[in-house]
Amino acid sequence: MTIDLANPDLYTTDARFDMWQEYIRSDAKVWSEPGISPSGFWSVFSHSDVSAVLSPKAPFTSEYGMMLGFDAEHPDNSGGRMLVVSDGSWHSVLKRLIGPFLSRLRAPELQSVLQQEVKEIIERLRSEDSTDIALGVGPRLPAAVVCEVLGVPLSEREQLIELTNHAFGGEESSFDKMTPAVAHAEILFYFHELIERRQKEPGPDLVSALLADGRLSTEDVLINCDNVLIGGNETTRHSITGAFHAFQAFPGTLDALRCDPALTDRSVEEVVRWTSPAAHVLRVATEDCEIGGQEIREGQAVVAWLSAANRDERLFPEPHHFVPGRTPNRHLGFGTGPHHCLGAALARLELRELLSQLATEARGVEPRGTVRWMRSNLVQGYSSLQVSIDWR
Ligand code: HEM
Repeated sequence: MTIDLANPDLYTTDARFDMWQEYIRSDAKVWSEPGISPSGFWSVFSHSDVSAVLSPKAPFTSEYGMMLGFDAEHPDNSGGRMLVVSDGSWHSVLKRLIGPFLSRLRAPELQSVLQQEVKEIIERLRSEDSTDIALGVGPRLPAAVVCEVLGVPLSEREQLIELTNHAFGGEESSFDKMTPAVAHAEILFYFHELIERRQKEPGPDLVSALLADGRLSTEDVLINCDNVLIGGNETTRHSITGAFHAFQAFPGTLDALRCDPALTDRSVEEVVRWTSPAAHVLRVATEDCEIGGQEIREGQAVVAWLSAANRDERLFPEPHHFVPGRTPNRHLGFGTGPHHCLGAALARLELRELLSQLATEARGVEPRGTVRWMRSNLVQGYSSLQVSIDWR
């Protein structure tokens, strides 16, 4: 029997965890015929196969695109221009330009923004009997951080945060006549204006730095702002929502964190592993090669299922359990190799602030509805997580 692993319906229930476990135990490499994705593609699941595909020396490229739907015959037209779908020297140029704005060095500046945002989230949670975390909480923090990184002026921030929430699934009621795709287009339109302003009046922000370099066209600056926008929002908000899911599914975790704050950093890693919001990344083989005994031909697409590898029991005993102090925890949630997440330090900072404030204020998280997963093969995320909080 062949299975189309691009089918988003496969990812709307917990059954996917059993499917991956079976594939990993049998060391499977699965070929999906052309279907939802226009050409066929290989899938790999185990930690070792996924690491092999993404390793710096592996003969694979991201330039045709890095997600299902793209391949050698249907390339992403941002390939070779946008950071995440560029390789070689241009990738290095972009990484050097964008990296400093997303690095740990930004932590001191961002800390006060984060503290305030988390404080407001907690106040809001306290004011409601029950809350849908996927809509009301998850999107807020990442959107604020991305605004900060891109240098969106304070007076325009609230509007952009709301648009971002709407574009990436938060459904702001004030935009009820706008589809999420239109909201994303509105954001790009806003960036276009911001770029024009920064051309005249540069500031200490990412947009100004990309312009000042002189090697990027205005369109390239726009495309790369979009990379940071999507990279920063699509994934982090589901990790944040997923942290609440973990506290709900594993009672006592918040107490453990409160008693031993030193557990917080390890718990942040466990949140990223357990939630694995980036479900897959795709690569195209640049020459005939072999992965875990499977021959891959030049030009064929290979999908590395990060969310499966992060539940590989050979690396993670009791992989479905959320273990706050899990060590070692060599998860692949941020990918690995040359495209390892450039925003990982910021994502960690966001999660750390949330976990420490929540552990101080809350005893537990209780379900108030069924967990609803997004219908997506790309983002392992939540369309709804209705909970109420047991406050201290
Ligand atoms: C790349 C996951 C947060 C910006 C990646 C990749 C993954 C990932 C798996 C690798 C893509 C590939 O190999 O093709 C995550 C997760 C996050 C997160 C799980 C949160 C829990 C962020 C944040 C930002 C960001 C907060 C920025 C504000 C980027 C960028 C890249 C990237 C710019 C491209 C790096 C490159 O191609 O060199 N992310 N990400 N990410 N991420 Fe993240």
